[in-house]
Amino acid sequence: MKVPFVDLVAWAKPSREEYLAAFAQVIDTGAFVGGPQVASFEGAFAKFCGAQHAIALNNGTDALLLALRALGAGPGDEVITAANSFFATAEAISHAGAKPVLVDVDPRTALIDPRAVERAISPRTKAILPVHLYGQCADMKAIRKIADAHKLRVIEDNAQAVDAAGDGFAIGELSDAMSMSFIIQKNLGTFGDGGALLTNNPDIDASVRRLRNHGSTKRNVHSYGFNSRLDDLHAGVLSAKLKHIHTWNDQRIQWAARYTAGLNGAANIDLPYVRPGYRHVFHLYVVETKNPAHRDQLLDFLVRNGIDAKTHYSIAIHKQDGYPWGKGARIVGPAGNAERNAASCISLPMYPELTAAEVDYVVAKVLEWDKAAK
Ligand SMILES: Cc1ncc(COP(=O)(O)O)c(C=O)c1O
Repeated sequence: MKVPFVDLVAWAKPSREEYLAAFAQVIDTGAFVGGPQVASFEGAFAKFCGAQHAIALNNGTDALLLALRALGAGPGDEVITAANSFFATAEAISHAGAKPVLVDVDPRTALIDPRAVERAISPRTKAILPVHLYGQCADMKAIRKIADAHKLRVIEDNAQAVDAAGDGFAIGELSDAMSMSFIIQKNLGTFGDGGALLTNNPDIDASVRRLRNHGSTKRNVHSYGFNSRLDDLHAGVLSAKLKHIHTWNDQRIQWAARYTAGLNGAANIDLPYVRPGYRHVFHLYVVETKNPAHRDQLLDFLVRNGIDAKTHYSIAIHKQDGYPWGKGARIVGPAGNAERNAASCISLPMYPELTAAEVDYVVAKVLEWDKAAK
């Protein structure tokens, strides 16, 4: 049996007619950029997230960059984030001219550790940027408390956790702004690149709207900004998908539960930990080998058996030596948990259209490896 990591064709099929109707609207009206489909998606997505404003953008990295710029984070400022995110999180901070300060994560959830955040605060700290990695949100109540005590701004990187929730709080509720990525394979993915920023703050909304369009709100008048607009084609796809996202995420949660039930007795791996009361939407189902030396063994075994498993992410951000970090520390305190996560993580296939037979096959192969592991 072959199990792809994500089956994008199966995922697109059920709503084919809705996507084609959105494309036809673009062709028939000539509204390609900044048209009615963008405005309609922004309204629907803001409502879905319980936010006052959604600004559609070109990608999730820009969403972080523009949020940082709107908050005035720049040269001389530090922004604290997790050492084990997708690289773009730190890159956006550097693009804003600020310094990424990378801290360790909780060993069970792989999410930013609020105690490590507190230890990393300096007089230069401007903001905290928690990442809702794999589909589970960070401990936003603790982060909010720290931010209030030190008068810091908070931006949530929510590229991976649309429709997730915390214990008594919604994503986006306890921060200044929240970024989204709609790149193809995300839970809410378009047919290319896309992103958005959500906020309840009208000043941030106005700034980011200007910044996404070369600093312009009026033809030929510019301050300063970027080109980061979402096309109407993508907005149409996203509006069609938004109607299904909660059901798709419920399906992911069911497959995750089936993986967890099947793999529960495995001696050599740790399974994903969901914090009580949280809705983890399983963008990724990530297991960790207890012994990091086992990771590549298990990965090879799965791939040889037709299972397209991957790693997210096998190099902690502060270990990316190709990046021009500049002078000064880029990491505060030990980041042993983030490094261990990088060395031992394996993402099993996860998408709504998986079948029970596919999940059971993956479980059987992991257990087969587990029994023989040395
Ligand atoms: C955690 C995280 N942050 C930021 C990004 C950047 O988003 P994009 O690829 O849309 O620029 C991604 C996704 O790719 C991500 O997973």
